[in-house]
Amino acid sequence: MLKNFWYAVEFAHAVTRAPRRVTCLGQDFVLYRRRDGRVVCLSDLCVHRGGALSMGRLVGDDGIACPYHGWEYAPDGACTKIPANPDGRGIPRKARVDSYPVREEYGMVWAFLGDLPEEERPPIPHFPQHDDPSFRAVYFEMEIAANYERTFENVVDAAHTPFVHGTSFGNPDRPQIPDFEITGDDWSAEADILLSPPPPKGLWGLLSRTRPDTVVVTNGWYLPNIVKLHVRLPFGDLILYDHNIPLSRDRTLVKIVGYRNFFTGGWADRNALRRIEKILLQDRPIVENQRPELLPFDLADELHLRSDALQVAYRRRRRALIERGWWVGDDDTAAGDGPRRTATVIPSPARRDNPELARAWTHRARGADAPGGRTPDAPAEEETA
Ligand code: FES
Ligand SMILES: [Fe+2]
Repeated sequence: MLKNFWYAVEFAHAVTRAPRRVTCLGQDFVLYRRRDGRVVCLSDLCVHRGGALSMGRLVGDDGIACPYHGWEYAPDGACTKIPANPDGRGIPRKARVDSYPVREEYGMVWAFLGDLPEEERPPIPHFPQHDDPSFRAVYFEMEIAANYERTFENVVDAAHTPFVHGTSFGNPDRPQIPDFEITGDDWSAEADILLSPPPPKGLWGLLSRTRPDTVVVTNGWYLPNIVKLHVRLPFGDLILYDHNIPLSRDRTLVKIVGYRNFFTGGWADRNALRRIEKILLQDRPIVENQRPELLPFDLADELHLRSDALQVAYRRRRRALIERGWWVGDDDTAAGDGPRRTATVIPSPARRDNPELARAWTHRARGADAPGGRTPDAPAEEETA
């Protein structure tokens, strides 16, 4: 899991004045809107005893109160009130939680999960269809019991479609993938791939009187976890942006925004959502049963073909970022039914302004003696609490 990126953590329409818990990189966050509509993203772990702020309520000047002992936090993460303290007793400077920069773009709430200053942060990708009135969007999500890099690579993998999606858009009679060229930059890669799909069925089939033999599908990725799939149907364009949100090492929440410029009435949304769901239900058992569960760090650990070039480009780029120290150590995210003694907390940018407090924002009692090692070739950088 890579930190120091903007992650789309929730659909914008799902974030309201009611505190909402979301999970990413194995960490829980609380999202809520201020009275002026701007979204706040705080670590969901109260620094006092680890209460979940998302179970609390909004108080005062856009703050949030922990449900356990009522400590109140401002949107910048500073504790502003400790109800148990007698009048006149100060609030410790250490009493604060990480607050993450937030942007709202393309119908999603994006949180910057890392501590880089603004000018060093990788960009949020540009999704031009969002502001184009000829497109209509649907919003879809599904949880998958697989690592997010497996689900991510699955969607940039054109060669699996005839086999996994042979009953939908894959064509088992035409499995060859012609060579394609990759374009991109440090944060993205894409390719135009020539596929030979079967004729569309159902509602969409009614629209396609002519049927081209091949279609160009633009497929690609944006770091850290987004896949774009642009399918040119005979009657219009379908563009999916697929966010593979790492809930934990082993679970992924796939959130998809799907744009289409045909059948743009709301009446066709259900049909579009059903098609997306059908495709994911075909992929799900495949990725849930891939072994090893985690993507190898070493390129040589799996066999790659020319048709796997987009995945290879991703693995190379990921390697460089791991060497830069952007990998989140996942051993510190306790899972399963054993006692949970640790929790991941990604450092936020404000820690750079208060370096003397860098280790203080999470309670040491649970982190200082945390058992367990680190992934040897991916040194953990995160703070534990
Ligand atoms: S755990 Fe949050 S106030 Fe005590
Ligand atoms: Fe697939």
